[in-house]
Amino acid sequence: MAAKTLDDVAVSGLRVLVRADLNVPVQNGQIADLTRIERLAPTIRELSDKGAKVIVCSHFDRPNGKPDPALSLRPMAAALSAILGKPVAFAEDCIGPAAEQAVAQLTDGEILVLENTRFHAGEETNDATLAASLASLADIFVNDAFSAAHRAHASTEGVAQNLPSYAGRLMQAELTALEAALGNPARPVMAIVAGSKVSTKLELLNNLVAKVDILVIGGAMANTFLGAQGVNMGKSLQEKDLYPTALEILATAKTKNCEIFLPFDVVVSETFAPNPPTQTVVVDAIPENAMALDVGPRTVHELIQKLPRIKTLIWNGPLGAFETPPFAAATNALADAVANATVAGTLISVGGGGDTVSALRLAGAAQKLTYLSSAGGAFLEWMEGKILPGVEALSAGFSNLG
Ligand code: 3PG
Repeated sequence: MAAKTLDDVAVSGLRVLVRADLNVPVQNGQIADLTRIERLAPTIRELSDKGAKVIVCSHFDRPNGKPDPALSLRPMAAALSAILGKPVAFAEDCIGPAAEQAVAQLTDGEILVLENTRFHAGEETNDATLAASLASLADIFVNDAFSAAHRAHASTEGVAQNLPSYAGRLMQAELTALEAALGNPARPVMAIVAGSKVSTKLELLNNLVAKVDILVIGGAMANTFLGAQGVNMGKSLQEKDLYPTALEILATAKTKNCEIFLPFDVVVSETFAPNPPTQTVVVDAIPENAMALDVGPRTVHELIQKLPRIKTLIWNGPLGAFETPPFAAATNALADAVANATVAGTLISVGGGGDTVSALRLAGAAQKLTYLSSAGGAFLEWMEGKILPGVEALSAGFSNLG
């Protein structure tokens, strides 16, 4: 990893600005999932224990550059405090007098959370003045928000131009795990890409066919690939306009020696509702008025049979409509087998992306994978082979100082 880490700096007595990703799911005003805050905690605890003055900044949701009390980071500061078992102060703004006064009051080891960076329009435009104001609060910058590193914003990219910058422990863990999975992986490598739309994962598919040995396509994306090859998919969700693109991807895969694995049986239903009547059919026999909602058991069995010879697995996207019973069956069965192979030490498994994390958690496999990324969009962009500006800025070093 090109970026410096917390091993490369003595932080005692320093004001350390930490870019966190406190963009957590909130339902009815309550934080619905603490994972991102729990995974941030080691960095904050380490800095505090080493005597740094810890200043945490983050975005939350999309307030469009204006203050919105409903999108305050105050509840996240309270959650961080509960997880750390230490007081965490809060400043009503991320720059200006409120932030400056709160920082001035910090003693060594104390922790402060600043208000939502997206309350300022300059955050998303990567405004140099906002970046400089944030940087002026601190002596060094620690980016621990891999999941926001695909955004070239003032608090992710701009600020790193103004301060000596380091990767936090979560950032370090994400980069190390992803590098192991796709940078220089143990082969053969299998990638599972699933979800509802080919159109949102085109770049991903194109990048992966050139890098992995087996590409498994599941979810409704598989319908488009099967339909493109002339299979009658009944009422199944498809993107027919992408048939030519799907055929191109299949052709490229052949030239790159990448095996494409598509379902050969599916679970279908006439309605998409919880626990409807279902049928399991081979893909050539999908009834005209039915839609495929999960991969079938024979396909999953075949996939599981392949696992012992796979060394690295990258998983993005659930195989079926996992949130609606019984269409999580294929995802659950595969997740179980992946978890067992990982625990047995024969497989390096890395998962990521919003729905994937939920699906693997529901399957009870989340803790057993080698690494489960906390990122959604950033994980996808990294898998697409894109350079993430937040990561790039850490590696490039700061340029505007002195
Ligand atoms: C995420 O949840 O993926 C990150 O926090 C980025 O959020 P954004 O898509 O609103 O930029």
